[in-house]
Amino acid sequence: MIIIVSLLLYYLLKQKLWCNCEICDAYLTLSWSKQFDNLCDWFTYLLKKSPTNTIHIHVLGNTITANPDNVEYMLKTRFDNFPKGKPFSTILGDLLGRGIFNVDGESWRFQKKMASLELDRSSIRSYALEIIHQVIEHRLVPLLSSVAATKDQNGVVLDLQDIFRRFSFDSMCRFSFGLDPRCLELSLPLSEFSVAFDLASKLSAERAMTVSPLIWKIKRWLNLGSERKLKEAIKIIDILALDVIKQRRKMGFLTHKDLLSRFMRTVNDDTYLRDIVISFLLAGRDTVASALTSFVWLLAKHPHVVSAVRIEADTIVGPNQNLKSFEQLRQLHYLQAALYESMRLYPPIQFDSKFCEEDDVLPDGTFVKSGTRVTYHPYAMGRINEIWGPDCLEFKPERWLRDGVFYPENSFKYPVFQAGLRVCLGKEMAMVELKSVALSLVRRFEIELVAVTPHRHVPRFSPGLTATFSGGLPVLVRERVLSPSLHDNFIT
Ligand code: HEM
Repeated sequence: MIIIVSLLLYYLLKQKLWCNCEICDAYLTLSWSKQFDNLCDWFTYLLKKSPTNTIHIHVLGNTITANPDNVEYMLKTRFDNFPKGKPFSTILGDLLGRGIFNVDGESWRFQKKMASLELDRSSIRSYALEIIHQVIEHRLVPLLSSVAATKDQNGVVLDLQDIFRRFSFDSMCRFSFGLDPRCLELSLPLSEFSVAFDLASKLSAERAMTVSPLIWKIKRWLNLGSERKLKEAIKIIDILALDVIKQRRKMGFLTHKDLLSRFMRTVNDDTYLRDIVISFLLAGRDTVASALTSFVWLLAKHPHVVSAVRIEADTIVGPNQNLKSFEQLRQLHYLQAALYESMRLYPPIQFDSKFCEEDDVLPDGTFVKSGTRVTYHPYAMGRINEIWGPDCLEFKPERWLRDGVFYPENSFKYPVFQAGLRVCLGKEMAMVELKSVALSLVRRFEIELVAVTPHRHVPRFSPGLTATFSGGLPVLVRERVLSPSLHDNFIT
């Protein structure tokens, strides 16, 4: 016990845990929450006010920036000086092991090369599209239709955020492992794997929120409370993942199309394979669900955008016609613009941190001390006049279109998928998923928000790695009256 207390005291003395400046005081006393709904909104306010769009929170030893030049410097120019770093990899290490999401250096380079090679193949693209199609047509749409058909005078309220999380877990599990957890089948109990995965990602994220890492490390050492639960959840994930790998080795993996089977052709170490695939699952699950949740929320507040998406779909695909090809999906420029615009205002990963290896100076003149954290903040960046103009707070898909054609912006201005060398590897798959789900929903259903707190104009987020609406996204769903052919909307 004496050792633990001494370690804690040593840590507290080493850190600058007390600071009287206004910002640190507001942070420590939580007084910011009197004026702002979310921590990210308070940081946005501070970043907008700073002449360089960069701030420093002394008690956290954290530089936070919304300046695109700084973002480019960290993610590209001086990439090697701004790795994810040990503090981050320790937090997620028990769950992710040596998986791509959690490593730097050679191990990252190796996995990035291998994953890029696989994800660039057209065979994996059509496999991903096939899975997304199946989950939408055979799970998501029937589920929403059955809720819409319920004969209840007041309608049945559905939490769409929860449905999107189930959708992306089913899709990502099939894509990564070739496993079907059937989370979208509400009549079935949730699979042990999905419960364990949910718990493990939640508890791992909570580690990042403790005042000092020593607290969770001591709990882990003593196998107490949340750390004991985390260990148990990870054990369930390990058993299942390693069992799938063993079975796949026995039955042969050469003919399977999922990511795991593809990686098995190059990697022999089963634990390493488990780590690689679990990273993909984590990276692709909550992000997609988060993007869909805020998109539906914004659409409900902007009916003219819903009409424009429908008109474009009727023009490209044909009224009451099924989507016929991947190419048609690509031609939906307005839909792509609307999704990009939605993630500009509500990025699924609101902020992302790196650790500075050696003392450095950012392009705006900010000094960064070695061993400290530097965070870029896509949520704040989407709200900065100098980046997006005076109408930056408005939801305007048109800002991404030139003569009706979608034009991407500089990725350091819009680091929603990160940018530079470590840019998201699943960006294309994510866009196919988002467009496909959005198209199916908008063409077939009318979705009405049910106000949880009627006077709230902005969503309130729960703390975590990915933006999550606290209280979910309660909606009422009605089926639109369509000719029968559209009831099978997707590529056949
Ligand atoms: C709207 C959906 C998505 C968004 C906004 C998004 C965003 C991001 C961001 C910001 C990062 C950098 C995280 C960091 O380094 O700390 C990232 C990395 C990554 N993403 Fe995505 N992602 C999405 C969907 C997906 C999907 C569907 C997959 C899988 C197919 C995926 C796979 C990955 C992987 C493997 C990495 C790690 C790349 C590396 O470290 O080199 N993502 N993503």
